[in-house]
Amino acid sequence: MPVPEALADQAARLREQLQHHAHRYYVLDAPEIPDAEYDRLFQELQAIEARHPELRTPDSPTQRVIGQVLDGLVAVRHALPMLSIRTETDTSAAGAVAFDARVRRELQLGDDAPALDYNAELKFDGLAINLRYEDGVLVQATTRGDGETGEDVTHNVRTIGQIPLKLRGRAPALIEVRGEAYMRRDDFERLNELQRARGGKTFINPRNTAAGAIRQLDPKALADKKLSFFAYGVGDTRGWEQPATHSGTLDAIAAFGVPVNADRRVVQGADGLVAFHQAIAAKRDALPFDIDGVVYKVDEVALQKRLGFVTREPRWAVAHKYPAQEQLTRLNGIEIQVGRTGKLTPVAKLAPVFVGGTTVSNATLHNVFELRRKGVRIGDTVVVRRAGDVIPEVVGRVPGERAVYVPNFRMPRDCPVCGSRVLREKGGIDHRCTGGLFCAAQRKQAILHFAGRRAMDIEGLGDKLVEQLVDAGIVESLPDLYRLEVADLAALDRMAEKSAGNLVAALQKSRRTTLARFLYALGIRQVGETTAKDLAKHFGSLDRVMAATEPQLLEVDDVGPVVAQSIRTFFEQPHNREVVGQLRAASIEWDEHDGEADLSPKPLAGKTFVLTGTLPTLSRDQAKEMIEAAGGKVAGSVSKKTHYVVAGAEAGSKLDKARELGIELLDEGGLLTLLG
Ligand code: IVH
Repeated sequence: MPVPEALADQAARLREQLQHHAHRYYVLDAPEIPDAEYDRLFQELQAIEARHPELRTPDSPTQRVIGQVLDGLVAVRHALPMLSIRTETDTSAAGAVAFDARVRRELQLGDDAPALDYNAELKFDGLAINLRYEDGVLVQATTRGDGETGEDVTHNVRTIGQIPLKLRGRAPALIEVRGEAYMRRDDFERLNELQRARGGKTFINPRNTAAGAIRQLDPKALADKKLSFFAYGVGDTRGWEQPATHSGTLDAIAAFGVPVNADRRVVQGADGLVAFHQAIAAKRDALPFDIDGVVYKVDEVALQKRLGFVTREPRWAVAHKYPAQEQLTRLNGIEIQVGRTGKLTPVAKLAPVFVGGTTVSNATLHNVFELRRKGVRIGDTVVVRRAGDVIPEVVGRVPGERAVYVPNFRMPRDCPVCGSRVLREKGGIDHRCTGGLFCAAQRKQAILHFAGRRAMDIEGLGDKLVEQLVDAGIVESLPDLYRLEVADLAALDRMAEKSAGNLVAALQKSRRTTLARFLYALGIRQVGETTAKDLAKHFGSLDRVMAATEPQLLEVDDVGPVVAQSIRTFFEQPHNREVVGQLRAASIEWDEHDGEADLSPKPLAGKTFVLTGTLPTLSRDQAKEMIEAAGGKVAGSVSKKTHYVVAGAEAGSKLDKARELGIELLDEGGLLTLLG
């Protein structure tokens, strides 16, 4: 069948595009499009080549791994090539079934032959690194490069705390440990927070940041970029008897002291693979780092040898992907959201796009300075990222000419909700509405915060209802809530008598609360739940909190000058004192003695806990609540003052720190025992 000319042109164009993007990605570490878009182009070319093999040129990106050595870093030829893995792009269970069927066919196993053992593991989204240990000492670290030749990045890898400079135990004459250097999501968020505070450029995603950091010429450039590492295999070895299975090999690597991820399992047959794929999909968002899929490997090394390779990909391994956490979409507009404290946030209105498991049509742009730095304008094609429980974010735009001129976005001079003047503190980055509780947006947010589960816990008082109550002028300030009657509510649109009754009952119930909850509910800037609890405990009564001077406030645990000043400023405002007075008049009450309404025993009084990792059954919030209900305190970091560290799966540096300081470790069972 002759090849239509248009198709030949299309293939040539795709090759060029892919080469361009592969160069940006592999060599420059500055991709212009998300991986999912690259994969789509790649698959398009693959499909054309499959139908018309004569279009398959030797330089097609489908025929080799691209990536050249940058000037500046020294090229190193790998003792054994660093392979890549075939990707099963069907993200449904079918991908796992197809792999198992292929392996069984290659091994000529009949239908009645038993299920094969596979080692299933995570596909980390970072940068592949080869660690060469001679007599147990790290002598060289290299990137993968094009698979044959990589770059020497020993100077940077040595700064990664997780990578041992010396192996534990009896190390062989030579072992190359292969794995992925990556950046944890929290380390990435922290870095971007720091960049925002400094007014610097924020980074797109953890993968690019990690890859860029590793290939820096100057290790000092890594200072704020904390990297991590997981091993997933071995390269060249000498004087080492490799275990008979891949899972055993990973155990051996872990015993040498190199990090190996715990979410790995030996499973049987296609069913086992599918179950693993699903189990990991369910916890993907909760993982502390990005993964883009899982990897299945035939567990038995002898079978791996029998299966061998096709070009650069082993027949015994496959990557099975998940839906991408970054996507391209169109920026249709920019709206301003006014928050509880009056902060104006530009929000991107997007053409709806499926990313990270949900459809996203709004994403934060943080502030006008960041928006400018990203150079995003209405009409642009932008990259949207949604990973873990982090709110969706526009991380950048796809470079290219704009067909029409679009002016740069400007913050409004007046609040779009109440018309009050918008101001920015000198040197600050946030714009704020000066309308205070006069501003309906701030009032709505203040009411929602007040009603929140962790504040006054007024069940049924959600977004929509607050919107209606404020817009109809029924609720103008917090105390108005306690004047609501069933008749007022039932008059509202879509409000049935029964739900009106429920809300009034919920308001009634909320009157009995704790001092800590009440303080938190007031929405004082800088006063979160923990500070509110500390204040309640320290002062014991609202009058004393309201009368406290700054020096007195500074005596409270964890209260610094900024927080102390914010509390003072709040209670100095006549309007706020009036609101508090009216709320008390509405017979809101609490036990003034310990700030807690219930007087249950407090077995953990005076004890400080730190939680790390994922517990088998309790969520972080649940564990925290239980500890606090028993009188204990939960802190964010481990110090000499910590009494217990409760560690779950994937516990990280906090666990190491606890061990270092000799602090008592508990698992979930231990915690529950302690709680009685
Ligand atoms: S095994 C012979 N295992 O994915 C197989 N790779 O395209 C060699 N990756 O370059 C790789 N997690 O950077 C393997 N658990 C895992 C992995 C993994 C991430 C990366 C690695 C490699 C690429 C393969």
